[in-house]
Amino acid sequence: MSAFSDGLMANRTVFVAGGTSGIDLGIARRYAELGAAVAVLGRNPEKAAAAAETFGGLALTADVRDYAATRAALEQATTELGPLDVVVSGAAGNFLAPAATMSANAFKAVVDIDLIGTFHVFRASYDLLRTPGASLIAITAGQAVNAMPLQAHACAAKAGINQLVRVLAMEWGPDVRVNGISPGPISGTEGMARLAPDESTREEHTTRGSR
Ligand code: HXC
Ligand code: NAP
Repeated sequence: MSAFSDGLMANRTVFVAGGTSGIDLGIARRYAELGAAVAVLGRNPEKAAAAAETFGGLALTADVRDYAATRAALEQATTELGPLDVVVSGAAGNFLAPAATMSANAFKAVVDIDLIGTFHVFRASYDLLRTPGASLIAITAGQAVNAMPLQAHACAAKAGINQLVRVLAMEWGPDVRVNGISPGPISGTEGMARLAPDESTREEHTTRGSR
């Protein structure tokens, strides 16, 4: 039984960065079920279109590492759907890799997507929000508070997200609420396939981390 009533999000606009698969798509779909107009953003246009079609949403394409492209996508969402009530920042990248052999660019890639990308999504949305009452939600992870081997990049990035959320909540509240959600491990997702690969996927996801 749902704790939320039908139509709870009617006349609300939601933007989900990373909402073209996995947990973020589940979030986007649920907002749509509750009546919101929802836009989802990913890098792959075909994947975004297919995801948005499953719930009648708006598909947008940008790399969150690119501020101008991220801003353009948020502006398109606002133009087509209206001022934003909820912005979810869930785009992320991850792989298992020992810090001793991880390249500088590998570390940077994950920090750029997760942490810098979250700043880009939130900063670019700031003057597009319907206030007071808008809600910004970052998707963080247990890595933010629990150190994990082979996760130097993700632990650093997600810890940074937690502090970014705290600072933005102080600076932008109370008109804009800023929070982080830390999901537990969700089976069947890309994230879990990469962190706990079974024998069939272990080779694909970990070979480059062991070089
Ligand atoms: C070591 C690796 C690597 C690996 C990539 N790199 N994979 N190093 N082990 N397995 C290195 C590359 O060699 C390169 O460094 C650098 O990382 C950037 O790689 P690119 O492929 O050029 O980057 P890009 O195309 O931008 O792709 C980003 C990515 C990719 C993060 C590497 O995996 C991606 O797009 N992931 C998105 C999907 C995803 O990861 N979903 C899971 C999110 S779940 P060099 O030095 O060679 O240039 C999550 C888990 C939360 O966050 C917790 C769950 C419990
Ligand atoms: P996923 O299925 O891999 O989804 C990642 C999403 O982000 C996709 O829509 C992807 O689309 C998009 N994306 C990736 N890099 C991007 C970029 N540079 N710019 C724009 N979009 C980008 O991931 P998931 O496993 O469901 O995880 C979703 C979120 O939950 C992440 O923040 C993750 O850290 C967090 N989390 C996951 C788990 C878990 O068990 N899976 C646990 C705790 C926290 P494209 O590839 O098309 O860009």
